Amino acid sequence: MDKITEMIKSRYNRIAMFYDRMDPISDSIRKNALSIARDNVLEVGVGTGKNLSLYPSNCEITGIDFSREMLKRARERAGRLNLNVKLLEMDAQNMLFNDNSFDTVISACVFCSVPDPEKGLEELKRVCKPNGQIILLEHVRSANPVIGKMMDILNPLTSNMIGCNINRKTVSNVSKAGINLNNVVDIGRTKILKLIVATPEDIYK
Ligand SMILES: C[S@@+](CC[C@H](N)C(=O)[O-])C[C@H]1O[C@@H](n2cnc3c(N)ncnc32)[C@H](O)[C@@H]1O
Repeated sequence: MDKITEMIKSRYNRIAMFYDRMDPISDSIRKNALSIARDNVLEVGVGTGKNLSLYPSNCEITGIDFSREMLKRARERAGRLNLNVKLLEMDAQNMLFNDNSFDTVISACVFCSVPDPEKGLEELKRVCKPNGQIILLEHVRSANPVIGKMMDILNPLTSNMIGCNINRKTVSNVSKAGINLNNVVDIGRTKILKLIVATPEDIYK
């Protein structure tokens, strides 16, 4: 693992105990994003497992995260709620799953911190079945020039403190990774939080 990956991982290990209190995404936003998940689901960067109880009941869930401390809390939550999920320590940039393994691949607020986002997104594409779906609930750099510039200025602070880049251009990173964008929905008026629905291939080609 390279130095930046180690550093981001240690940031998340450090903040794991506070994470649930810092998290700004409501259960209703999460539940809405997860409502289209189906069958064999991979959640990348599962964190403390805030999504785990919100999936439709037909989903069989595997969650991965590279932070042991975040995963520990996800395991505790799954145990408390009696959820049948598989939780594994793994780096999104180099996953140990075979190609075309999952019907749905999901991330929520993860690609702000994956050190090499394009590589991570290529991995999502690789492990998702060709007729599967990729669902990303991610915050991105604002398209407003003033707010976007402010985000650039503040980014060194947030990335150093909590491992989160607030100025990532995740929608264009998805395209750069060769994933086919189907729908990008703004959540809220700031247009910073987006629900990105994509497929590994262009299914309408
Ligand atoms: C902001 S938290 C979001 C957690 C969870 N998805 C949620 O919605 O609450 C980002 C999570 O992504 C994980 N993460 C970041 N980069 C990763 C990588 N390369 N591989 C695996 N997990 C990663 C972090 O450890 C952390 O748990």
